[in-house]
Amino acid sequence: MVNRHKIKHPNHFLSLNALSEKQLFQLIERAVHFKKHPFTEKKRHSLYAINCFFEDSTRTHKSFEMAERKLGMQLLDFHPSTSSVKKGESLFDTVMTLQAIGVDLIVIRHPQEAFYEELIQSPLLTSSIVNGGDGSGEHPSQSLLDLMTIYEEFHTFKGVKVAIAGDLIHSRVARSNGRILKKLGAEVWFTGPEAWMDPSYETFGSYAPMDDLVGKVDVMMLLRVQHERHKESHSAFSKKGYLSEYGLTSDREQKMKSDAIIMHPAPVNRDVEIASNLVESSRSRIFKQMENGVYARMAIIDSLLQ
Ligand code: CP
Repeated sequence: MVNRHKIKHPNHFLSLNALSEKQLFQLIERAVHFKKHPFTEKKRHSLYAINCFFEDSTRTHKSFEMAERKLGMQLLDFHPSTSSVKKGESLFDTVMTLQAIGVDLIVIRHPQEAFYEELIQSPLLTSSIVNGGDGSGEHPSQSLLDLMTIYEEFHTFKGVKVAIAGDLIHSRVARSNGRILKKLGAEVWFTGPEAWMDPSYETFGSYAPMDDLVGKVDVMMLLRVQHERHKESHSAFSKKGYLSEYGLTSDREQKMKSDAIIMHPAPVNRDVEIASNLVESSRSRIFKQMENGVYARMAIIDSLLQ
């Protein structure tokens, strides 16, 4: 029998949609604060975190780990391939097990869209859940680090012109960022193969060819072609053809506004969505995004564990 008086009400971080403009700015400002003071005075030695990645990841996984360590949390290892997931244990039962052994914060990346629905509806859940990417759904911690990177550059979102370019249909980054940037007052366009445009994005911005956008935007946000999520007819995919028709080539980069920046959540398919030499160019904020990811994730965890 569950003693309801003992159940705390957990905070989760699942989507940026639920947050007000004020809460978003508080998170961005907290992340900027952590960037200036990465070794926080508020050590959380008595709190335990675990990062459960059911899909591959380098940046999100390792920057959550770095954020947790900088906040002084204790970390447990989890690898689906050597866990009882292999014996058929469900996500719900896995989370309940981790909670039972004393984990306070569970970061999950999962191929199923909105994997967290069943978890958060359970009155038994007391650990905080963080969405590290749900299928083709959302990637809210990536969105927050992208917002932080744009904010550091332009000090506002109002009127900032952003093109989101590439594999739109499979991109949780495009979905999260399109919605939140529009909410914060940015002007958003989408570009890439027209067949990959998701009609649901039209609420946030319109479709235009790359060549119409490259000279007018402040942020060229490129997306990885997610070969692993494409099924039929992808065998005809040509890297060279894709770069010249839809990608950011060196010729196109020359047409960008003088203070425009290049972003990409990475991993990057060099010479597919972006010419390889542009990844390290002066316009590129790709490595800054990765650095900001640690501080954005510190801000997320800190807000959950207040
Ligand atoms: N940007 C991003 O989510 O990268 P990883 O898949 O390496 O975490």
